Amino acid sequence: MVTRRTLLASGLSAAALYAAKPDYTFAEIDRLIARGDVKGKLSKEDLPTPALIVDLDAFESNVKRMVAYVKGKGRAIRPHGKTHKCPEIARYLISQGAVGACAAKLSEAEAFAANGVKGLLVTTAVIGRHKIARAVAIAKRHSGIIYCVDNTQNAQDLNDAAGAAKLSLNVAIDLWVGRRTGILPGDPAVALGEAIAKLPNLKLHGIQAYAGHAAHVNGFANRKKVSIEAMSPAVETRRALEKKGIACPWLSGGSTGTYNIDTGIDGVTELQPGSFVFMDIDYNRIGGASGSEVYNDFQNSLFVLTTVVSKPKDDTAIVDGGLKAFSTDKPFPPQWRGGSELPYAFAGDEHGRLTMTAGKQVNVGDRLEFIVPHCDPSVNLHDRIFAVRGEQVEAVWPIAARGLGQ
Ligand SMILES: Cc1ncc(COP(=O)(O)O)c(C=O)c1O
Repeated sequence: MVTRRTLLASGLSAAALYAAKPDYTFAEIDRLIARGDVKGKLSKEDLPTPALIVDLDAFESNVKRMVAYVKGKGRAIRPHGKTHKCPEIARYLISQGAVGACAAKLSEAEAFAANGVKGLLVTTAVIGRHKIARAVAIAKRHSGIIYCVDNTQNAQDLNDAAGAAKLSLNVAIDLWVGRRTGILPGDPAVALGEAIAKLPNLKLHGIQAYAGHAAHVNGFANRKKVSIEAMSPAVETRRALEKKGIACPWLSGGSTGTYNIDTGIDGVTELQPGSFVFMDIDYNRIGGASGSEVYNDFQNSLFVLTTVVSKPKDDTAIVDGGLKAFSTDKPFPPQWRGGSELPYAFAGDEHGRLTMTAGKQVNVGDRLEFIVPHCDPSVNLHDRIFAVRGEQVEAVWPIAARGLGQ
């Protein structure tokens, strides 16, 4: 019998290899996956399901498109690592022109730093004695890391800890631009900037202004209005600081939904989008600049691969991916990659229910891929991402910061 193993030994082409009948035992597959030794050896068919997969052609095209656009507008890009939590992806983005990676939390930054990711910006304030000690410990090994602050006491605490460790910390003023954290723009932020300027162990890098509420506004014109309204006070605050003689060369913000808006705002120097590497159903729905209903600037590259494990009725099939394989924070379920047939409904922790029509039937053992409702929390449910090109698995990327939310 011609198997993949005999073909492998004969050195025949990859196409012939993948057309051959798989003959690995599960133990062999498990070992190859654990070693990441998959290129030319495993196909999607071999993967135990549910499995998180990234389509490399779509992923690479998303990265190239975003980096080229942002750099073409004369801005830097430091993509947010909260989306992928994966050092391999952060390093790939840097190899393609990103200046570094954002980390949502200190523990995410620790995982990135330990895996060789340079140019880190921690986008959430570091509060409390223990976290400040950890922040200083990372900065000792990872010069240039930037921390966000939005109050003078925290700036003072960071300064004191940095002084005790005999180092200088880079900080950015986290500005409130309509949602979430930050100090109010204008006078309060300028006063914080003045206070930071007087602290000997802190260096003011600039301002972070993340307008998350603008990212998913439906329709490009509406989104543009919301983002410009949010970001204008940040630009003004940057100018006000410089008027006071406080250098503020950097203003970072933006998202996948507003990259082509914020790069047009004078004074925004850097973008920190995250989801564009993968995309998800939530982003697909926001509408594009051309007026298209679907936001297709970036392609869906992230999928959960599942297996049909049961067909209890003519119109019902059950797949092995449920609440533990997909995010559940959005009011819509996963979507079959193949189109609108086979609507999915959650059927518990481990299962999903597909409704079949006479025209569209699937069988037990079939493999089906689904677009996730929301990429960031979906990634956080998995240990690794299988990087695939066509049917072939090219790499296994550990999601090193999975579950690290501290
Ligand atoms: C501070 C910050 N910056 C940037 C982003 C990236 O946004 P998106 O994934 O929408 O591109 C996020 C996402 O939540 C964020 O929290």
